[in-house]
Formats: sequence, C-alpha cells, structure tokens
Amino acid sequence: MTHDGATAGVGAAPGGGAAPGVPRHVACVMDGNGRWAARRSLPRTAGHRAAETTVIDVIEAARSCGVRWLSLYAFSTENWNRPHAEVEFLMRLVRGVVRKHAPLLLARGVRCRFLGVTDERVPKELAQDFRDLTTLTEANRGMTLTVAFDHGGRRDIVEAARSLIRGGANADEVTERTFAAHLPYPDTPDVDLVIRTSGEQRISNFMLWQVAYAEWVFPQVLWPDFRAAHFLECLHTYQRRDRRFGGVPSQPNGAP
Ligand code: IPE
Ligand code: IPE
Ligand code: MG
Repeated sequence: MTHDGATAGVGAAPGGGAAPGVPRHVACVMDGNGRWAARRSLPRTAGHRAAETTVIDVIEAARSCGVRWLSLYAFSTENWNRPHAEVEFLMRLVRGVVRKHAPLLLARGVRCRFLGVTDERVPKELAQDFRDLTTLTEANRGMTLTVAFDHGGRRDIVEAARSLIRGGANADEVTERTFAAHLPYPDTPDVDLVIRTSGEQRISNFMLWQVAYAEWVFPQVLWPDFRAAHFLECLHTYQRRDRRFGGVPSQPNGAP
C-alpha cells in the first residue's frame, strides 16, 4: 500500500490562511440527472445519458486548470434502493462510457481508479472493465480520476476499522494517520473542494473521511447542464474562500 502522507492533512493546518490557489483535489456529487429529464418530459434514464458529456467536459476542464485529483460520485451504496430498471440502466451506461472513453483517458495521461465496487450486485463484466481501465492507466502521471461507484463513506470507514483490527492493532496505535492508511486508496489527499450540482445540499455518504475540511459549493445547475465554465466559476468561488482550518481569519477582523 502506498502512503505519501497526504491523508494526514485532516488535522494539519497549512497555517497562515493564504488565499487558496487551484484546489489539489476536487470532488463532484453529480446530481440532478432525473430532474433534468423530468423538465423535458423525458424518462430519468435520458438524464443519466446526458450526464456523459458533462463528465468528459469536467475531466478536461479540471486537467486544464491543473487540478491533480478529481473524484466523481457516480453511484452510492444507497442508490441500490432505486428501481431495478434504473439501476440496470446505470450499470450498462457506465460500462459503455468507460469502454468508449478509455483511449481518451489514456491519451490524456489520466490515472483512473474506482472507489467502492464491492457489492456482488455490480455486474462482473463492469467490475472487470473497471479493473482493466485501472490497469491500463496506472502508469499515468497526469490527473488522478477517482470514480466513486457503489461507494459509501461509512462503509469505507467501517472497513478501515475492520482492517486495523484484523491486523492486530492495539488501541494506542490507532491514530488519524494509521486509520487513514487503512482506507481504500490511502494516497488520496483530502478533498479541497466539493461541487454538488442541482442545488441539493447534502453529503449523501460521500468520501466522509476525505471531505472533513473541504470547501463546498452548491451550484443550482443540474449535472447534465454543468459545463467547463461552471466548473471554472466553482474554482473562482473556492479561491475567494478563507480556509481557516480552525485558525483565525487571514485578514485583520476577518475583512475580505
Ligand atoms: C444523479 O442524478 C445520478 C445518480 C445518483 C446516479 P439523480 O438521478 O440523483 O437526479 P435527481 O436528483 O433525481 O434529479
Ligand atoms: C448522491 O446523489 C449520489 C450520487 C450523485 C451518485 P443522490 O441523488 O443519490 O442523493 P440523495 O438521495 O439526494 O441524497
Ligand atoms: Mg439526486
């Protein structure tokens, strides 16, 4: 297991409160596909299909802005509660998207990973395609794209606890650092910015450990309408934030 110490950032104040630059790690809760379709009197599946363009746009935008880590929430452990036909559609759609865009991701130097994918209801062929893309792009050193699929933040935390116990850790050895090292992909740095589209303001069980000190933005735009320009706007909003990490405002009296 690789561990570059980045996960230790949760409690580590960078100090000084300097204006944030380009966020190292941006995570998106891709929300609003169903409403996008409903507004057009289309089935929800049409909204999911339209989301593909946004995904590619955001990957390209993040890369060109110099974002090093991009995480996309594609399917939650709670999304299994959706109607069977919608779940099945999503599984097929994601498989198609992964296969179609693998060459582009490889060419762009994007390292792809899939976070979750442990439920036996994930079709075997899809899980295989995820592994194939992971292997195909693992030597890439451009942006790291993490697709959270069949992901639940609580499940990751429980699994990390189990892994520590199985490894025989005693209570004194369990620190934020050792705990984080047992999460999946422990080299993933803390999330700096979360973008949740569609105006909903919830975490929905997304990367709970990693978002501990993230800044959040909630654009009203629905995910299928979200474009590079919206992404840039979110980055600008982030750059106007004063990240304090429990410290004091970076300007006297908190002046902007
Ligand atoms: C997000 O869009 C896609 C997934 C959760 C898979 P939704 O399908 O949640 O869209 P809304 O929230 O119903 O509009
Ligand atoms: C969160 O969106 C999950 C993904 C975007 C994959 P949901 O639409 O499923 O979340 P809730 O149900 O509104 O919390
Ligand atoms: Mg939703």
